[in-house]
Amino acid sequence: MKMLKSALVAGFALLAAGASQAQEVVKIGLIAPMTGPQAASGRQMVAGAQLYMALNGNKVGGKTIQLIVRDDQGTADITRRIAQELIVNEKVAVISGFGLTPLAMAVGPVITQSKVPAVIMVAGTSSIVGTSPYFARASFTLPQNTFPVAEWAAKNGMKNVVTLVSDYGPGIDAMNTFKKTFEAAGGKILDQLKAPLESPDFAPFLQRAKDLKPDAVFLFVPAPQAGALMKQVVDRGLTQAGIKIIGTGDVTDDDQLNGMGDGVIGMITSYNYSSAHDSPENKNFVAEFRKANPQMRPNVMGVSGYDGIHLIYEALKKTNGNTDGTALINAMKGASWVSPRGPMSIDPETRDVVQNIYVRRVEKRDGELHNIEFDLFKNVKDPK
Ligand code: PHB
Repeated sequence: MKMLKSALVAGFALLAAGASQAQEVVKIGLIAPMTGPQAASGRQMVAGAQLYMALNGNKVGGKTIQLIVRDDQGTADITRRIAQELIVNEKVAVISGFGLTPLAMAVGPVITQSKVPAVIMVAGTSSIVGTSPYFARASFTLPQNTFPVAEWAAKNGMKNVVTLVSDYGPGIDAMNTFKKTFEAAGGKILDQLKAPLESPDFAPFLQRAKDLKPDAVFLFVPAPQAGALMKQVVDRGLTQAGIKIIGTGDVTDDDQLNGMGDGVIGMITSYNYSSAHDSPENKNFVAEFRKANPQMRPNVMGVSGYDGIHLIYEALKKTNGNTDGTALINAMKGASWVSPRGPMSIDPETRDVVQNIYVRRVEKRDGELHNIEFDLFKNVKDPK
């Protein structure tokens, strides 16, 4: 009887220990621009992250996951301050988000010093992940997303191209990658135009591009500016002047595409994600995303928010709930899974994203505009 009693007591103690471990909360910080000019990216990231948790629950590695969303208004000083506050006061295990390259760059020194991993869900400048051993990227890089459309242009009879990009990290990456790839294939760059990131007026650049009479104009702007850019491209009649419009998929952003009108039909872009991607994983993702967010169509930021949380969950599973930052970033290295975008992984050497890049054409299907994929580059690493 005494033995039975002590066995029972021991059993209860074990149960209680298990329960308290499951009640132990692991906090994930998500820093996103929810207001200001980049708010569209923030809304998508948060919707994607929340959807992942709604579909997969909040228990991982014996712990309870809590997502803490903070608005950095797209301003680097605020991103840095929020990162510090989340790490020091909230004791988050991981931070994530970063809707613009300078916002990710701003947290590099913070995560290196505190040894807390940061999962990038948007920022696409190639060099970011190299600035701290605690960065991992779940989004894309601009070189990765640019070279396929440059090859497509060269193979499809385009000889002279003007490039127009936003004048900051990802734009410069896109500009340089396009030039390198296109010239290696025998093409010529007539001019490299750069529009300011803040409140850009694209009109003078588009006029200059039109006057140069190139075979094509290559475009990159951060996705939240795509609607404004494409309206001006259409209004200025570049297509009617016989100029092909090409770019990275940022400029035919899935969430804004229908608002751009039929003038963008036929545009060719290369990108890592289309909401029209034909796979069971994506069909399910799009349906669930739209159910939870009826006003939005998921875009690259939405799928990166979703995959970014998946990466953090996988790391926590691998460490059995251990939240040591070095253990977590090591657990992210080499992770691979099937995303709604297709197969993807985290390069164990660089911590950067490896994924399929698709060449797509804007087409109208069932009364809606979509980026329809027609060519594929498999398992692409950032081509540094
Ligand atoms: C970036 O700032 O790195 C960035 C933002 C939005 C994009 C692509 C890149 O669509």
